[in-house]
Formats: sequence, C-alpha cells, structure tokens
Amino acid sequence: MTIDASHVRLDPAIVSLMPPGTHLEDGRLVIGGRLASELADEFGTPALVIDEPALRARARRYAEGLGARWANSQVVWASKSLPCTGIYRLMGEEGLGVDVAGGGELVMALAGGVDPARLVLHGNAKTDRELAMALEAGVGTVVIDNLDDVARLERLVTAEQGVLIRVIPDVATATHDAIATGHQNSKFGLAVPEARELIARLRGSDRLRLDGLHAHIGSQILDVEPFARAVEAVAALGEFDVYDLGGGLGARYTYDDHPPSIESYLDTITDAARRFLPGHARLLIEPGRSMIAEAGVTLYRVVSVKRGATRTFVAVDGGMGDNLEVSLYGQRFEATMADRVGGGDPFTVVGRHCESGDQLIESVALRAPAVGDVLVVAATGAYCLTMANNYNGALRPPIVFVGNGDARLVLRRETYEDLLRRDA
Ligand SMILES: Cc1ncc(COP(=O)(O)O)c(C=O)c1O
Repeated sequence: MTIDASHVRLDPAIVSLMPPGTHLEDGRLVIGGRLASELADEFGTPALVIDEPALRARARRYAEGLGARWANSQVVWASKSLPCTGIYRLMGEEGLGVDVAGGGELVMALAGGVDPARLVLHGNAKTDRELAMALEAGVGTVVIDNLDDVARLERLVTAEQGVLIRVIPDVATATHDAIATGHQNSKFGLAVPEARELIARLRGSDRLRLDGLHAHIGSQILDVEPFARAVEAVAALGEFDVYDLGGGLGARYTYDDHPPSIESYLDTITDAARRFLPGHARLLIEPGRSMIAEAGVTLYRVVSVKRGATRTFVAVDGGMGDNLEVSLYGQRFEATMADRVGGGDPFTVVGRHCESGDQLIESVALRAPAVGDVLVVAATGAYCLTMANNYNGALRPPIVFVGNGDARLVLRRETYEDLLRRDA
C-alpha cells in the first residue's frame, strides 16, 4: 500500500496508545504500514499484531539505556509477557538475555536460538524435570525461590551452577494484588531472615555458586520510587557480584496512564545502584510488560451489536479466551473501529465466552460499529496471548509481525484439529 502523505493524520488520541508510527489514512488505521482492516482480512480474527520495528527499537532503547548508565549490565526480557518462539528469536537477535519460568518457556527460548548462558530460570515451583532440563541446556543462572529449589539443585547439579537468591524486599506497590510480589507473605522468594541464612549456607557450597540476589516487586508499576527502595533493601543483605532487579515498569493502556519513561526508570535504578550497591556489580533487569505491551494490538471482528436496557453491546469474536487481563486484574483497555477511527458513541465491548464477566471494555467510544467491522484494541502485546486459553473451544490467536508495509505470520492460529490432537 502506498501512503499519500496528504491523507496521513496522527490524531485522534487512540493513535497515541498504538505502536509508534501508527497513523490514519482517510480515517482508517494503519499499523506498521498496513491497514488494520486489511490485516484482519488476510490473517483472520482475533489476531495479535506486533509492530516488529517498534519492538526492536524498544529492546534497543532498554539495552542501550541501561548500558550507558551501568556498563556491567544486561537486559533480560521477561518472556512470560509474550512467549512465542519468534519473539524469543527477536530478543536473542537484539542481544538481550531471557527470563524463562519453567520448562515450556525454556524450550521456546532454546528453539528461538537464545544463548543458554543468557537464560535466567525462574519459578516458585520448579520441578526436578524442569531443573534437569535447565541444567542440561546450560542455563546461565537459576534463581532460587525456596529451600526446596536448593535441595533439588544440590541433588541434580553435576557441575558448578550460577544461582541468585530471590529476596522479598518488603516494598509495597500501588498495583493490583494479583501482580504485586514485593510484599511480605508473597508466594515468591524468601523473606530477609531466611535469605540471610541461605546466603551463609550457599557461600560454603562447592556446586552452587552464589552470584547474587534477585528482587521483583510486581508489575504495572507507574511510579519509580519503589524500584529505588527495592535496591536499598537488597543492598542490606551484603555485597555480591550480581543484582537482578526484576521487571515491573508499567505500560500505557489508557489515556490516563502516564508510566515513567524507560529512561526515568533506568535513571532511578542506576542512581540507587550507585548509592547502595558495589560499583563492580553486574546489574540485570527483567522488563516484560513495558517492553512489549504497547507494540501490540488485537484485531477482532464484530459479530453482533445488541441494544441492552442501559447500554449497547458490541460482541466480538474473541474475549477472555485471548485477553484475561480484564477479568483477572480489571485492566482497562481502549479501542477503535479500524476504518472509522475517533469519535462515536459509548459502547460496551463484550467477548464471545459464556461468562457475564467476559467483557473487554466498558464504555468506549466507537463510531458506528456494525456486524463484520474490524475493532482494534490497543496495547495488548503483553500477557494477553500469554494467558490465551480454549474456553468454549476458542482457538488461540495467531501472532502477526508488521513493519514497513510488510506483514508475516510468526505463530499460526490454532485449528480445530489442534483441539482434538491431545485426545488419548
Ligand atoms: C521474576 C519476574 N521478573 C520479571 C517479570 C516481568 O514483569 P513485568 O512484565 O511487569 O515487567 C515478572 C513478572 O511477573 C517476574 O515474575
């Protein structure tokens, strides 16, 4: 498609929630140089569309930004945010490390060609099998979450293994309970007294090489200050070679969200590191949501428009089968009709699943939605496909990379045959 510059518009506001470079042509949404409605025709709906150049640019912004502020450092992408071989490959190509939680993410990371030495294995319930897989693959770092991890590792390791201890820093965050992890009584990590005991024990281990500490305080954090407090909290446990500060920076989902910039977040953690951590230390961070959420949009097709008692429902061909963020955390999303962007009247966008809670967006302005139209939901790159499921036999959506006018499938849509494939 050639774009006539005289028709290109950047407003209205919904465009600011879409990947950089998204614009309007004659009132129609263009993402990665492709009309959103044409992408829906070509790849079907629902579909997760990722702007590949935008994602690569963000990965570089993180890596270069951290490297410029703290040379001995590594950005480790939290792959739970969008586990798909094509994205692992992209992150590996950009030189990032990768955080994998469990055997499945490990398998995809290896298939995506990520250097095992740059893998960080997480999990609060790692099984023998998963740890054995990780050790066999040569995963660089295993993050110890609990004493059972230690017992398993001591039984399974055959050569020296680098480990970090995940510490609960006791830092509260203003985020949803389901995604807060830095508070006392979190199911993740060890409280400071237990962590101290384990540090003393591992310092004498000849197989488990204690490289340092890990802390992750939660997700969708829209203020930088708790990150600095987490650095101070881990520093109190002593001097180490490595400090992994986890992820957690928030993404912009709605017009009212104003997450700190990557640069302001990096300034905060590296300033805190200069104050509290040894200068020689290696600094890792594990961004997920803030890396990928805004690079993605989901395309749906309108299946029904129905007037209710006090609101009008726009029902689409997806819902909680491809976006659980709404029902799990009450996350607000914004949307637009692909070919009539901006303006309109308030509608309630609902999914196709047999739950009244399967509501994607309450009260979003849409211009004249009609059956067969394409609806685009912004900022769905992170944790949506991650938690996609087969509720009502829904087929999990594909991932389409777009950029510079091209589009390609990196993960195909599930098929009905896939649904039957595991029948024993
Ligand atoms: C250990 C760890 N690191 C990193 C992340 C990524 O967090 P976010 O996606 O908020 O950046 C998570 C997410 O829960 C996590 O558990």
